[in-house]
Amino acid sequence: MTRGAVYAAQRVDHPFFARVWPVAVNHEALSVRRLREENLAGLTGRVLEVGAGIGTNFDLYPDSVEQVIAIEPEPRLAARARAAAAAAPVPVQVIGATAEGFRCDELFDAVVCSLVLCSVDDPVGVLSDLMSFLPPGGQLRYLEHVASPGARGRLQRFADATVWPALLGNCHTHRDTERLIAEAGFEVQATRRERTLPLWSIRPVVSDLAIGRARRP
Ligand SMILES: C[S@@+](CC[C@H](N)C(=O)[O-])C[C@H]1O[C@@H](n2cnc3c(N)ncnc32)[C@H](O)[C@@H]1O
Repeated sequence: MTRGAVYAAQRVDHPFFARVWPVAVNHEALSVRRLREENLAGLTGRVLEVGAGIGTNFDLYPDSVEQVIAIEPEPRLAARARAAAAAAPVPVQVIGATAEGFRCDELFDAVVCSLVLCSVDDPVGVLSDLMSFLPPGGQLRYLEHVASPGARGRLQRFADATVWPALLGNCHTHRDTERLIAEAGFEVQATRRERTLPLWSIRPVVSDLAIGRARRP
């Protein structure tokens, strides 16, 4: 069981996305899996994972993690995440909640976001909430697809203004997520960009990934 009371509310209902995402993520490129692993490397203690999907990260947590609280507001995805949690090498508890609705009266050692900050309506607001779950020095680990420049950027803006968010669980492709992380008050400590063409992507709309570590000042 988790330490500290956890209060959860809110769900999202994305039946089409809940059907396609498991297929897509189960066919993702090895290069993306390696980035997921890198995003979790060296974590210790209690971790909050936001928007866990079907729990793709769970078997990649290092043994040094004592407990993962994973929030996932889409009930069909949360059910699959619970199944993944049961097979994870570290204790994982999946809670049906949005990042906006999640409350917990104890702090975490780290917060993990992967491919999720594109899907929330108010990323700076969510990031500020997430910061409140960390002690000073606590880390945000992120692996996010981000806005591309030039022609790919124009394609992303077109996708975002048309059917992409409605079809794909409110995903926005042209988000300058690292600027938003800094705007929310995090200090970015390390970051780099990777150009991936995962099998599940509709090239080249979500091929630029940012992987990084930021801390609560
Ligand atoms: C593209 S999937 C990524 C899933 C997982 N993080 C991964 O890396 O495989 C985005 C996830 O964010 C979840 N999500 C959407 N809106 C959210 C919100 N407001 N709070 C928390 N999670 C949310 C979706 O239900 C979905 O599972």
